Amino acid sequence: MTTESLGAMRRTHFCGKLTEENIGQEVIIMGWIAKARDLGALIFSDVRDYSGLVQVVFDGEDENRQEIFKKAKTLRGEFVVGIKGLVRERSSVNEDLPTGHIEILADQLKILSKSEVPPIYVKDDDTVSEEMRLKYRTLDLRKTTMQKNLRIRGKLMKLTRDFFDQKGFLEVETPVLNRPTPEGARDYVVPSRIHPGEFYALPQSPQLMKQLLMVAGFDRYIQITKCFRDEDLRANRQPEFTQIDMELSFVDREDIMAINEDYLAYIFKELEGIDLKLPLDRLTYDEAMRRFGSDKPDLRFAMELIDLSPVLKESSFKVFASAIEGGGSVRALCVKGGADFYSRKKIDKLEAFVKDFKAKGLAWMKVNPEDIQSPIKKFLSPEEIQAILDKTQAQVGDLVLFVADKNKVVFDALGNLRVHIAKEMDLIDKEAFALLWVTDFPLFEFDEEEDRYVAVHHPFTAPKEEDLDLLDKAPEKCRAQAYDIVINGDEMGGGSIRIHNPEVQKKMFKALGFTEEAAYEKFGFLIEAFKYGAPPHGGLAYGLDRLTMLFTGRDNIRDVIAFPKTQAATDLLTGAPNSLDPDQLKEVHINIDSREE
Ligand code: AMO
Ligand code: AMP
Repeated sequence: MTTESLGAMRRTHFCGKLTEENIGQEVIIMGWIAKARDLGALIFSDVRDYSGLVQVVFDGEDENRQEIFKKAKTLRGEFVVGIKGLVRERSSVNEDLPTGHIEILADQLKILSKSEVPPIYVKDDDTVSEEMRLKYRTLDLRKTTMQKNLRIRGKLMKLTRDFFDQKGFLEVETPVLNRPTPEGARDYVVPSRIHPGEFYALPQSPQLMKQLLMVAGFDRYIQITKCFRDEDLRANRQPEFTQIDMELSFVDREDIMAINEDYLAYIFKELEGIDLKLPLDRLTYDEAMRRFGSDKPDLRFAMELIDLSPVLKESSFKVFASAIEGGGSVRALCVKGGADFYSRKKIDKLEAFVKDFKAKGLAWMKVNPEDIQSPIKKFLSPEEIQAILDKTQAQVGDLVLFVADKNKVVFDALGNLRVHIAKEMDLIDKEAFALLWVTDFPLFEFDEEEDRYVAVHHPFTAPKEEDLDLLDKAPEKCRAQAYDIVINGDEMGGGSIRIHNPEVQKKMFKALGFTEEAAYEKFGFLIEAFKYGAPPHGGLAYGLDRLTMLFTGRDNIRDVIAFPKTQAATDLLTGAPNSLDPDQLKEVHINIDSREE
């Protein structure tokens, strides 16, 4: 049996859209064979297109259908077919399938393409490795959930363009081949053929270009665009990802936050049918760290950090006393019902978990009905134990977990432990959405490796007006006019008001340890442009991939990208990255050092 041409045959209906209302109608569907069951006199096969599946019956007992029945006997999984037939009621209803009440009795069958035995099943619940899924991505993408994920992604892009268009934003494209800039993550670089030894960098974000567009008078810019960062990958990071990037002139932070709250309300309504309560909650960075140990707190559950330093200052437990004395703190989580849930062995695992975040240990205390059980009980006075119980409001059945260290370590360890425990104890409502702004980030953080201050956000973020004085005096105390939008414990987007005053920008570069020459060498084009009238401006960018993860309920970023890279930044489908022929290398003036493994 060879394959046939499409000829004049045209689809009249999508497989997954057929319902009981179509009963009695003659329809033509096109798609892939999902399953073929040969019952001797009858062949049942499921046909799939992007909308879903429908069952088709080939009747071998009907004299008039002998030819098509013979053809149907050759059908195998993933064959591409066109089928014409009559929709009728199904005798054995399948309630799990949207089209489970009907089937098509086939009159005409065209085999448009054959398939070899596919290396992976096109089935959502298949447990095949991700490696195989990425390698055979075209088959993987045929799965219903993958089709759904990419459709939600496309819809989100369309809604975004509609919304911002309506608000007077203009989409302007910015270049992909750029001057390498040293701040931020590592660049992906592209060698120049025409300029031996010179390189372009792919954009980590259109940050500088969108600021130049403000100086150029475009006022409200939006772009849905690819960004590239050569950084360590995680479940929600890709080397190549997409931003919804915007910038506005003549605004302050409140204007930007307001327009983005309207945007979020719009997409939540359209995609989830949810009415967001506006304005959204806000936490300053300091408060977020203090209460949740994180600048992207998950507010779908409580369990806040409790500072026990005031009551443990004088503790005879050296670990606690010395952490506090050294400027750090002792903080705790009170895990409701944790005394039973966490055995000694499981607490050891929690201790190993916090050690990944540089904590030196994890002290604990169980409130049992008859006593307090804790490896540090012997170090604590009865008054201290009572003070701990009062402060944490721990009750019978609860588990208190302590970390003592520098604040940075305490926050990091307990902030991550909080989320880890919530997952283990199933405390998170999967249907809930918790949105908030985190504001007033520090402008700088000290980079031990580089032995200098680096910008927390980027070097163009404006300090808070009231902190301007601190820029040269005490940079570490200077707060930024920066804000992140956090949803369900993930950073979905971030932005800031930018520096538009060249004097402030100069101070900023100085605080970052650049000489004036070095700053000019790196960002001269921006400094020049700002000489000729820069409006006050600011903006924000969302991670489109992360927003899509949220709306599809996926926790793997690769499930919302058609052709993603692996954790090792490779593309298993095409085999990228790849070596170049000697000729191509020569053309771009690159000599590979073969000594390097
Ligand atoms: P930022 O670096 O915070 O800001 O990036 C904005 C948003 O992009 C998403 N994101 C990523 N998504 C997937 N993979 C990655 N590797 C990745 N890195 C970032 C996050 C993040 O919140 N120019 C500024 C924005 C501005 O100030 O307007 C910027 O790029 O969701
Ligand atoms: P040790 O006396 O070192 O055996 O510690 C007693 C308990 O204190 C153990 O449960 C340790 O995990 C815990 N511990 C040690 N260092 C710290 C720390 N920095 N913060 C919290 N708990 C700690």
